[in-house]
Amino acid sequence: MQIDRIQLRNFRNYAALELCPCPGVNVLAGENAQGKTNVLEAVYLSCTGRSHRTRQDKELISWGADFAGVHVYATRRDGSHEVELILPAAGKRILKIAGQKASRSGELLGHVTGVLFSPEDLSLIKDGPGERRRFLDIAVSQLRPAYYYALQRYSRALKQRNELLRTQATYALDEFDQVLSAAGQEIMRYRNWYVEKLNAVSRQVHGHISMSRENLQVEYRPSVKEDMLTELRAARETDLRRATTSVGVHRDDLALLIDGHEARLFGSQGQQRTAALSLRLSELTVMKNESGEWPVLMLDDVMSELDPVRRRQLVTYLTGVQTLITCTDPEDLAGAEIGRLFRVAGAQVTPG
Ligand SMILES: Nc1ncnc2c1ncn2[C@@H]1O[C@H](COP(=O)(O)OP(=O)(O)O)[C@@H](O)[C@H]1O
Ligand SMILES: [Mg+2]
Repeated sequence: MQIDRIQLRNFRNYAALELCPCPGVNVLAGENAQGKTNVLEAVYLSCTGRSHRTRQDKELISWGADFAGVHVYATRRDGSHEVELILPAAGKRILKIAGQKASRSGELLGHVTGVLFSPEDLSLIKDGPGERRRFLDIAVSQLRPAYYYALQRYSRALKQRNELLRTQATYALDEFDQVLSAAGQEIMRYRNWYVEKLNAVSRQVHGHISMSRENLQVEYRPSVKEDMLTELRAARETDLRRATTSVGVHRDDLALLIDGHEARLFGSQGQQRTAALSLRLSELTVMKNESGEWPVLMLDDVMSELDPVRRRQLVTYLTGVQTLITCTDPEDLAGAEIGRLFRVAGAQVTPG
């Protein structure tokens, strides 16, 4: 897959921007706070429907403007794809696919596909399971929109079940347990399937990045051991007491093991950073294996944080992958064959 054109209107600090990346490595270079990450954020939004930095659409709209627009043109093996998001300051988002208004947010998925790696990804390794579930959800949704819809059904049912628990409305619990576990079992199947693929790939990828010095393993750790409905019923009394649902995919985790030891607990800062990078490259590679074409890779300010060996290993991984890299100093890209260089200063992007 290749992004041909990115157009922004009133997005963050851009009143208007048009950018045409090349199929290879694109570098956005500039001082801090000029708008480099904002471009990646817009592309990420066109891939996933979300920003990687905020859940609030309002923050994406230029101060004082009444809407923000992101329009991305891409080419996939099956032809051209075009997605457009309009985020109004008041009212609902408008989504257009190939110029046609879409009614469901999931219709965005699978047109422009991408993976973003940023320094904050360290939290994938260091923080609680919520970060890793978000990782799974976004990765699997881009591959299988049906998963995205199952998540929507699940979170709706979970909210309703928790409300019933809070009001002690036990009469309706049976029904919601059914809905919740049907969606939950479906989500678990997808997560199982995905993590197996991810694990197989991460061995290779991490071997490459670490120069075969380390082994990275990814394991799915579901909250439900056997059958969700049975376990929900068994937990009902506790759940009623605590007014919260204690079992289900909203409690799942992903274990990341470096040479057999949990990276979160035993990894050094450097090992954790490398594991986060490997995880993102594995996500990228699974998408390639599943769809037959590379998604776009976005690297936000990560080069300067990697040691020269890992930087070089990363760069050799980029062959054939359209990449958008932000940095303050293009010198940090030692060895990368730069296809197009853009200078970013004060919300102006100019060929460098
Ligand atoms: N909603 C907004 N409207 C206008 N400017 C914004 C908005 N959100 C962020 N900015 C500005 O964008 C700049 C940060 O852009 P960013 O892409 O994160 O910088 P960097 O080049 O360091 O990656 C800051 O100057 C910030 O004030
Ligand atoms: Mg930035």
